Amino acid sequence: MHSLWIETYDKKYEFPKLNSSLSCDICIIGAGIFGMSCAYYLTKLGFKVIVIEKSEIASKTTGHTTAKITSQHGLFYNYLINNFGTSFARLYLEANEEAIKNIKTIIDNEHISCDFSYQNSFVYTTNPDEVQSIHDEVSAVQSLNFPCKFVTNLGLPFTILGSCMFENQAQFHPLKYVYGLVDIIYNNCKIFTHSTITDIRKSNDNYICYTDDGNVKAKHVILACHYPFLKIPGFYFLKMYQSSSYLIAVDTKKTLFNGMYLTAKSPTLSFRAAHINGKDLLLVGGADHKTGTYCNFEASYGVLEKVAKTYYPNCDVLYRWNTRDCITLDKVPYIGLYSHYMPNLYIGTGFQKWGMTSSNVAANIIVDMICGKENKYAPIFSATRMQPIKNRDEVKNMIVQSTKSVVLDKINPSYLKFDDIALNSGGIVQINGNKVGIFKDSRGQIFAVKPVCTHLGCLLSWNDVDKTWDCPCHGSRFDFRGKNLYDPAIKNLETYQIE
Ligand SMILES: Cc1cc2nc3c(=O)[nH]c(=O)nc-3n(C[C@H](O)[C@H](O)[C@H](O)COP(=O)(O)OP(=O)(O)OC[C@H]3O[C@@H](n4cnc5c(N)ncnc54)[C@H](O)[C@@H]3O)c2cc1C
Ligand code: FES
Repeated sequence: MHSLWIETYDKKYEFPKLNSSLSCDICIIGAGIFGMSCAYYLTKLGFKVIVIEKSEIASKTTGHTTAKITSQHGLFYNYLINNFGTSFARLYLEANEEAIKNIKTIIDNEHISCDFSYQNSFVYTTNPDEVQSIHDEVSAVQSLNFPCKFVTNLGLPFTILGSCMFENQAQFHPLKYVYGLVDIIYNNCKIFTHSTITDIRKSNDNYICYTDDGNVKAKHVILACHYPFLKIPGFYFLKMYQSSSYLIAVDTKKTLFNGMYLTAKSPTLSFRAAHINGKDLLLVGGADHKTGTYCNFEASYGVLEKVAKTYYPNCDVLYRWNTRDCITLDKVPYIGLYSHYMPNLYIGTGFQKWGMTSSNVAANIIVDMICGKENKYAPIFSATRMQPIKNRDEVKNMIVQSTKSVVLDKINPSYLKFDDIALNSGGIVQINGNKVGIFKDSRGQIFAVKPVCTHLGCLLSWNDVDKTWDCPCHGSRFDFRGKNLYDPAIKNLETYQIE
């Protein structure tokens, strides 16, 4: 299921596949908003840049986002002050506020038409038990000298008890923005799509980035591939997991409200409007869960549709989509050097579902590192930081899930019987002592895969909403034919012929 953004954008370009050996100053792996922001800044500075994309430009997380451009990342600043201190929280806020300005400057300077509009952003509650946490957040943000307000009178079609408001935040059409960047650098930067980097090796002062059909030699490499496929060194698979969320775009047939909204606590609900092809649509997001854990239609799109129908009984649901993003253990993105053992290799990841601004922060930090310039925000995001873990619940969750998938499920699996798998559904069965992942399409055709993740070997689980095989360990995803869709895995699943 593709997003509203992808469905409503006519791409102007087709890029070739990499099939030769090339060299450049900087190789960027991944053409989402982060990779293309780096490509934009570096090409403008005169560097010779090559971008290698596994799929198509902005077709993964960036193409499936909600596209709010804001420094309000939930009830976050009270958490940051309590865990990292006031100056850390102030730098985080400043970095993200600067990112909003940077994005607007690029849009203005380059005349990018991407439906950018300034909006107020609200984190709200309808639950009396949560009102105090809103007051706490407002005080925390005000203590950082940022003019946020406690407000109760919002444009939403239901009563709220309190909200924290950030003014002058924004929203846009993410594909129009990213392709706008492509327009500017098209003639000065080489872009290759449908080319997967499978390995990166050091060669004297350079790196060589390999695909199956060609390679790129570069002094600097930026991993803009969302969840890094490199395992060692770096060990990002021990310090990051992925969380999925769902979105619907609805024609409410009513005049829509301004502003961008997010619930203060779980269950998450997110709202914004978008003006698409002459129509105002309401985007409703939420139903998040750790990627790879069980979910069905009722618990995902069903929840969002129920909310939309409650307030707009005659609404039509026009688009449904979902994606996932990387969450770090302390909730702060990893930006900078990938590992102390690999100089000139950089990463920006763990954007926590706030990658519109975080990707701009990351691009600026990494561009400054490449240019040898100091960046005052770099230390707080350092990707190689070693700090006491602030988020014990997430660590426990990750360890339990990985142990269950790598060890317990393999020793003590719960198999289905082949005949119990309904048409248009899937599950794991045992055939001749082997675990086999089966999908039966609506005509009864059978697709069989080895349901073991090609990243680090966790047992996959069947996702009946998208008809995919998903990994509960670090969030890789594969289609029912075994084709790798989402990182960090890069290889397809083994397939079986079933008679
Ligand atoms: C449901 C949802 C809603 C969100 N809403 C918002 C929002 O309102 N505001 C906000 O700020 N953020 C939001 N986010 C977060 C934001 O969308 C992401 O943080 C951001 O898009 C990540 O961009 P990226 O460029 O890092 O990753 P991606 O867009 O995933 O780009 C990475 C690219 O790398 C490519 N790649 C991967 N591996 C390789 C390889 N080996 N070789 C070559 N290429 C490779 C991929 O194909 C992909 O195109 C949301 C996230 C989710 C899940
Ligand atoms: S994503 Fe890491 S084992 Fe599957």
